[in-house]
Amino acid sequence: MNLVYEVISEEKMEVCRDLCNELMAFQKSKSHIRTELFDSMNFETRMVPSIKKAIHNFIVVVKDADRIVGYVYSNISPKETYSNEFATFFDLDSVRRKNVGCLSQFYIREEYQKHGVGSTLFDMSMEWLKGFDDVEDYFIYVSNGNYNALEFYKRKGFAVSHDILDGFITVLRSKKEDLRRA
Ligand SMILES: CC(C)(COP(=O)(O)OP(=O)(O)OC[C@H]1O[C@@H](n2cnc3c(N)ncnc32)[C@H](O)[C@@H]1OP(=O)(O)O)[C@@H](O)C(=O)NCCC(=O)NCCS
Repeated sequence: MNLVYEVISEEKMEVCRDLCNELMAFQKSKSHIRTELFDSMNFETRMVPSIKKAIHNFIVVVKDADRIVGYVYSNISPKETYSNEFATFFDLDSVRRKNVGCLSQFYIREEYQKHGVGSTLFDMSMEWLKGFDDVEDYFIYVSNGNYNALEFYKRKGFAVSHDILDGFITVLRSKKEDLRRA
């Protein structure tokens, strides 16, 4: 495999449309709690608003020849972003700083998994997140049934914090100093 990793600007987010929609369908296929919540989740309702609301965005795509086969999307956002009409994702008082980091979307096509691509994208995302001196709390939200992803993040130094929305989402978190040790 001759794969190329490319950081893209948020203006080019459109190139992630198909993979983002595949990710939502994949998560729905794994889910067994409140599965219907996925019905309204797609590129337009998840990635576009997320990018618009965030203060900083980081998108990396992986290409095999000219075909995009995976991507990761991370952002820095005000912590209040995570308390809204949909859910309160975490106790805002548990975060000392104004902003938090989030690895928000992550998807690699099945035939490209288990070759280290995910680890490379994960490391690039963490390096980017760690670059913000005033951010020390990082979050990842894993939908129910996606045990593979949960274990992947745990091996990378994230820990399960709590569940929200009746177990629809598991909140994982990490602090800057934990990732330095991982
Ligand atoms: C979660 C996901 C991003 C991980 O990506 P990946 O490319 O499979 O990740 P990696 O290959 O780096 O690592 C996965 C495992 O593959 C194995 N692996 C990695 N490189 C390998 C290689 N060269 N040869 C053999 N096995 C290898 C390892 O067991 C590794 O486990 P480790 O983390 O203990 O090292 C990917 O499985 C995925 O896209 N899943 C579907 C979507 C999804 O669940 N997204 C997350 C939403 S929260």
